[in-house]
Amino acid sequence: MSDHVLALKGVNAWYGHAQALFGLDLTLDAGETVALMGRNGAGKTTCLRSVMGIEARRSGRIELAGQSIEGLGIEAIARRGVGWVPDDRRIFPTLTVRENLQLVRGIAKRHGRQPMSVDELVEVLPIMERLIDRKGHALSGGEQQAVTIARALVGRPQVLLLDEPTEGLAPVIVQGMAQSIAALPQRYGVSILLAEQNLGFVREVAQRVYVLDIGRLVFQGATAEFMESPELQERYLSVARPTGTDHA
Ligand SMILES: Nc1ncnc2c1ncn2[C@@H]1O[C@H](COP(=O)(O)OP(=O)(O)OP(=O)(O)O)[C@@H](O)[C@H]1O
Ligand SMILES: [Mg+2]
Repeated sequence: MSDHVLALKGVNAWYGHAQALFGLDLTLDAGETVALMGRNGAGKTTCLRSVMGIEARRSGRIELAGQSIEGLGIEAIARRGVGWVPDDRRIFPTLTVRENLQLVRGIAKRHGRQPMSVDELVEVLPIMERLIDRKGHALSGGEQQAVTIARALVGRPQVLLLDEPTEGLAPVIVQGMAQSIAALPQRYGVSILLAEQNLGFVREVAQRVYVLDIGRLVFQGATAEFMESPELQERYLSVARPTGTDHA
């Protein structure tokens, strides 16, 4: 039996006394892109943070390639091949994009990983070509997002966790990002777990969808199945109509 690249088994998470995840089961297979959907506060970020080992209190089991990551911290989990793009898009404002990426290349090297070159990263996310010598503070939201994704790819992760990469971005930027993200699994063998609320984006990049509602899994299935159900979308998402990657 082949192991999933990532598996969550009965994961619970708490903030103080408030439970944010209830017995979450989720798998991600090699080369797959899986979307984690649900309204604000549904538990998407908590799920990604649980995988990175940074939630204060959780129970259940999380495995990378069949191995439990119990007790490992964020650095050890990153070293095992998990790239994380948090929802804050934080980069060093006074450094150029190139310097921001070089910094992470240095860390990857020290961890014994052969880092992606800046040229390779530009090839993955072409939007960066004209940004490369710009300072972090001079970038738009979409440009910062591209840099944070590139930064997570530097160490050639097996699993990429993306937390709402399209939030607040213009449709044309979202469209470009969809193309870049959709090409990643084939080109770099990375599997992607994507927290996202943008249906149009999910339709373009994900093969399967999990939907959370107040910390509980309420749907899992093929992306096409979810897209064909306006009832499900209306019940569990804030926006029922696909937006973001529409051409109209
Ligand atoms: N640091 C925190 N302290 C206390 N409660 C938190 C904290 N972070 C999240 N929560 C709560 O946990 C629940 C899940 O939040 P989470 O951020 O995982 O949702 P989300 O699906 O990522 O939402 P969004 O779409 O707004 O990013 C919510 O009820 C939220 O209020
Ligand atoms: Mg979130």
